[in-house]
Amino acid sequence: MACTLLALSAGAQNAPQLGINPVEEVIQAMTLEEKVSLLVGTGMPGFGGNAAVVGETQDIVPGAAGTTYPIPRLGIPAIVVADGPAGLRISSTRPDDPGTYYCTAFPIATLIASTWDTELANQIGKAMGNETLEYGVDVILGPALNIHRNPLGGRNYEYYSEDPYISGSMASAMVKGIQSNGVGTSIKHFAVNSQESKRTENDARLTPRALREIYLKGFQMTVEDADPWTVMSSYNYINGDYASESYELLTTILRDEWGFNHVVMTDWFGGKAAPAQIHAGNDLLMPGRPDQKQSIIEAVNNKTLKESDVDLCVKRMLDLIVMTPRFRDYPFSNQPDLNAHAAIARQTAAEGMVLLTNKNETLPLSDSVRNIAAFGITSYDFISGGTGSGKVNNAYTVSLVEGLQNAGYEFDEETTSLYQQYIQQEKAKLPQNDNPLFDMLTDFSFPEYQPASDLIARKAKETDLALITIGRSTGEFKDRKTEGGFYLTPAEKTMIEHVAAAYQQQSKKVVVILNIGGVIETDSWKDIPDAILLAWQGGQEGGNSVADVLKGDVNPSGKLTMTFPLDFTDD
Ligand code: GLC
Repeated sequence: MACTLLALSAGAQNAPQLGINPVEEVIQAMTLEEKVSLLVGTGMPGFGGNAAVVGETQDIVPGAAGTTYPIPRLGIPAIVVADGPAGLRISSTRPDDPGTYYCTAFPIATLIASTWDTELANQIGKAMGNETLEYGVDVILGPALNIHRNPLGGRNYEYYSEDPYISGSMASAMVKGIQSNGVGTSIKHFAVNSQESKRTENDARLTPRALREIYLKGFQMTVEDADPWTVMSSYNYINGDYASESYELLTTILRDEWGFNHVVMTDWFGGKAAPAQIHAGNDLLMPGRPDQKQSIIEAVNNKTLKESDVDLCVKRMLDLIVMTPRFRDYPFSNQPDLNAHAAIARQTAAEGMVLLTNKNETLPLSDSVRNIAAFGITSYDFISGGTGSGKVNNAYTVSLVEGLQNAGYEFDEETTSLYQQYIQQEKAKLPQNDNPLFDMLTDFSFPEYQPASDLIARKAKETDLALITIGRSTGEFKDRKTEGGFYLTPAEKTMIEHVAAAYQQQSKKVVVILNIGGVIETDSWKDIPDAILLAWQGGQEGGNSVADVLKGDVNPSGKLTMTFPLDFTDD
């Protein structure tokens, strides 16, 4: 409705058309209101009060993170952006639509980086980019390549490494893979967004050398090697300036030094002063609020912001729009090849898993192992990825137990039913809400089940092997805690000690699987089990990938891309 009014108000006769007439003529024909409407997203229902929502564009792809304003009289369509680094995030179902719109939950970035294989990363990017294209999205908001600075970083699962070179190499391979489909990426969060705690107030204070050699280097490599269609500025301050308002960061360094000449968009509701963001070279303010449009128009009218700054951002937005599938009227199918993508996810996850210890050739499992007892709630409730905007709405997650059952192993029924009953009763106590933000913000974890000693003793005699999974759910909006986050809980430690003692007394093996999104303490217990496999969060095929490794179908050639601190207090 609003864009129709916009068109009528500016007159629709014989206006220059984007893609037909020179872009300069299109800009020339735009009113200031139209120019500014292109630089501020259409808003997010329920946020920012009366968010500027232009009806139909908000729902081009339900569940997408945002859209830009269309200007039909000039042949400018809205374009759609959606998360995230581990797979496309859109709503998996739609009102009054029998269809489903599931996306593939790929392995988390940390696991992809653990393969040290940019070719595999590129393949993941190609598959992810195909889903972006076929579901009608123009730009996917990833990859994310901030540095693992704090072991407790809530979003470390979305990032590759503590090392800038690995980060840049992996991100560059992903960008080239995704963009080979003719869709865009948004490398994020530029820059120095190393924590979730108070992320919009945190002021990263660092020397020029540390900034450039550690926190910017990966972004520089990716910009220069893969030419991402967009960059997403970060929430935080850097040495006193908001990243999204920093001319030095977004123009002097990103554009003048590195040669980036595409769009920079804010993180969602990032930054404060819209005119300063435009001047700095942050072209698109997402998801967009009416007050931002008003403040830019006022700044131009009172001459505190040059209209030439606005025109520069408009030019970059129009150059982006003409590259998009939507501008090209690509007939997206809503039917990407999810089976093929699941196979790529499974292979990459298996190849990236890291065999931390393997005493006396415990792995691959010997042929004599047939019946297994699985301990640890996460064995049955495997974690495919992290929470927050990086979460994927995937159709299924293969648990560790399911993966091994698929591989032909049997599981002890008594142990399985005890854990499944416990999980069911604990989940029933969790708050329920279908608000997507609630889903992002809520911690759905519950205490580890404590198997009775007599059960453990009996299963050590009755079964061939014990599997213990230690799980950690992490995600956006919050950093992890040390207790129960970095460190094992007392219940987890007791479980490992008791199960190992019972099985090893029967000369049977115990394998620990780490289904985690960030580093944990391992030094105090790593000598107890016979083998430890770092599975990270392997996406929807995670359980099958672990089974491929335990069975010996895949050699776990993954290597760590970050330090596992012996203790959190270590420097
Ligand atoms: C979030 C995240 C960013 C995401 C964006 C859109 O707050 O910080 O990574 O792409 O908003 O959901």
